[in-house]
Amino acid sequence: MGKRRILSGIQPTGALHLGNYLGAIRNWVRLQEEYDSFLFMADLHAITVPHDPTRLAEDTQNVAATYIACGIDPDKATIFVQSHLSAHSELAWLFNCITPLNWLERMIQFKEKAVKQGENVSIGLFAYPVLQAADILLYEPDLVPVGEDQKQHIELTRDIATRLNFQYGSEDAPVLKVPEPLIQAAGARVMSLTDGTKKMSKSDPSELSRIDLLDSPELIQKKIKRCKTDPVRGLAFGDPDRPECNNLLTLYMLLSGQTQEAVATTCADMGWGQFKPLLTETMVEALRPIRDTFGELTADRTYLESVLKQGRDKAAAIANPTLAKVKAALGYSPLP
Ligand code: TYM
Repeated sequence: MGKRRILSGIQPTGALHLGNYLGAIRNWVRLQEEYDSFLFMADLHAITVPHDPTRLAEDTQNVAATYIACGIDPDKATIFVQSHLSAHSELAWLFNCITPLNWLERMIQFKEKAVKQGENVSIGLFAYPVLQAADILLYEPDLVPVGEDQKQHIELTRDIATRLNFQYGSEDAPVLKVPEPLIQAAGARVMSLTDGTKKMSKSDPSELSRIDLLDSPELIQKKIKRCKTDPVRGLAFGDPDRPECNNLLTLYMLLSGQTQEAVATTCADMGWGQFKPLLTETMVEALRPIRDTFGELTADRTYLESVLKQGRDKAAAIANPTLAKVKAALGYSPLP
């Protein structure tokens, strides 16, 4: 039996933040040892909101460099760009035609993002989860490792696969494999530094709300210094009335590699004045190697390009046969 497979991706819209790292990439680094891993940059998703065409290609490569800097090994995992494979767009169209409109109207992320876009909401933003389903199902993965906010999109993916299998396959010969989400409890929902009840997000207008993986030590220090806390003395996990405290302790736990019990004991009697420098130092040291390696990888882009070419070819070898299988099930027939 071959290795089990995972697939996941990130949108290349600006720098990646601690939520992307702790909710997704860090888990992929561990999973790549055991799973056949397909990790990509969702640059077709990146244009579902207004984007800067002069930045798109470089931002996309920078996310690949960030994956590698975080520990993804191109010899173990396949790293590729979504738009380099036309199979993603093509399968998305086929899925558009079998997906009921009201399944998409329920999507929380669409509702949230649509409010921000006002009148300019594109069909692409609405159909975004269908493209995501195509991204996933093309590779027939066993698991899709993501943060908590993507759970609904993975459920929709499962629904689309199940519907297609029901309509165009048979019980003993399903057309598509139905994957499972993999959401690790720790880090699945990293919260904003300025409001512990909101998730850390690239689209938050305040830069102080997030730590980007490439932030300088000075900037990290400034952001932690200014981050929201509470007036209670003594720090503890799990108090619903102290979301900021829970978030900052969780960040410290994950970045220092300690257990929850160890952190709870160390911080039980601390005040914020003592904890913040400790968190700052831990964060700076955890992110330093990522920032350094990113700098080396982007100084000469030939290596990155070779990784992405190899990734595209390996991805195509899996994606194209799946697309052909779906087209055949729908009744399309290639010319002899
Ligand atoms: P994106 O680019 O918003 O986020 C990428 C990954 O980071 C996770 N994440 C978080 N985890 C914890 N706390 C946070 N505050 C936080 N913010 C983001 C996300 O859950 C995700 O795992 N639609 C996807 C990209 C995509 C995709 C796919 C993912 C396109 N096709 C196929 C998986 C499979 C997105 O916009 O993620």
